[in-house]
Amino acid sequence: RKKIGVLTSGGDSPGMNASVRAIVRVGIARGCDVYGIYEGYRGLVEGKEKIKKLKWDDVRGFIHIGGTVIGTARCMEFKERPGRLQAAENLIKNGIDALIVCGGDGSLTGADLFRSEWSGLLAELVSLGRCSAEEIEPYRALTIVGLVGSIDNDMSSTDITIGAVTSLHRICESVDSISSTAMSHQRAFVIEVMGRHCGWLALMAGISCGADLVFIPERPPVEEDWETSMCDLLQSHRLLGKRKTIVIVAEGAIDQHLKPIKPDYIKDVLSSRLGLDTRVTTLGHVQRGGAPAAFDRYLSTIQGVEAVEAVFRSTPELPSPMIGMCQNQVTWQPLVKAVEMTHAVAKAIKEKDFKRAMELRDPE
Ligand code: F6P
Repeated sequence: RKKIGVLTSGGDSPGMNASVRAIVRVGIARGCDVYGIYEGYRGLVEGKEKIKKLKWDDVRGFIHIGGTVIGTARCMEFKERPGRLQAAENLIKNGIDALIVCGGDGSLTGADLFRSEWSGLLAELVSLGRCSAEEIEPYRALTIVGLVGSIDNDMSSTDITIGAVTSLHRICESVDSISSTAMSHQRAFVIEVMGRHCGWLALMAGISCGADLVFIPERPPVEEDWETSMCDLLQSHRLLGKRKTIVIVAEGAIDQHLKPIKPDYIKDVLSSRLGLDTRVTTLGHVQRGGAPAAFDRYLSTIQGVEAVEAVFRSTPELPSPMIGMCQNQVTWQPLVKAVEMTHAVAKAIKEKDFKRAMELRDPE
């Protein structure tokens, strides 16, 4: 009988609960025991009451709730080897032989590291006398499956991550609200959106809300004097009769020299050079909370189903799949490859190779 542990990790994202619900119910339907690991990797390290068997009814009503009911954390202990050793021991002591992790880039990087160290961790537990050789025997192969839960949509090898669409909706609603007051006062608004080092939310919000200008990390302004180009563009829109100016700035936006472009700086430029009455709005965590949109409920449900399937069908060639979505099809990718490519994007940006960063983010 398979015992599956499920945890959500990193920044919460709308849809995580729906994926836990799907994993629990499909797992039970397929004859497995499913354990909720509370508070992400922290719960895995702490063990005891943080690891609880979940029944069918425990996830009733989960599908439409935002955030993650089983909790999440940004766990420092799991970043260190002693923490991962403790986590391995807790899995074995609870009889868990498969782990499904729903989280973003950092969480899946942690999962991949855990997988790569697994046999070494087992050997260490035996040598320290914390587990016997017989005890570890059934756990020689730990299956880890990754689901990408992140509003940032910053993971390579998948077109879309759980929560990104809901967050985009939330941003659009906010920008629409800001637009009406901006138009009334003929004001300019500089709106900062989340996304860490990824500009997907900013770019999509810009297109969806008809913003005047968008700043994203992957494509910094090409001009050295981008401030003048920005003012010329925004002024030309005003001359066409626009009563408002909307500039969307990704929180990771940078210039060609990798210097952050900050909303307050843009505000100062627009006020001083164009004389626009300018306000800054940082949308903050309102973008991350709240009920998941229908798409995220659907995405996390079908991916949760697939994650359980992956527990049964992972092979030595693909021991740790990441469940993604490419061209409207659910896909399995090697977790290790997806993590490597995501890190390669960050590296390409640091090296100012922005074209390569875009290619790596969307290899298809
Ligand atoms: O990764 C999701 C995210 O919301 C990012 O967009 C943002 O940079 C970060 O998490 C904020 O983290 P915290 O909630 O820890 O402040």
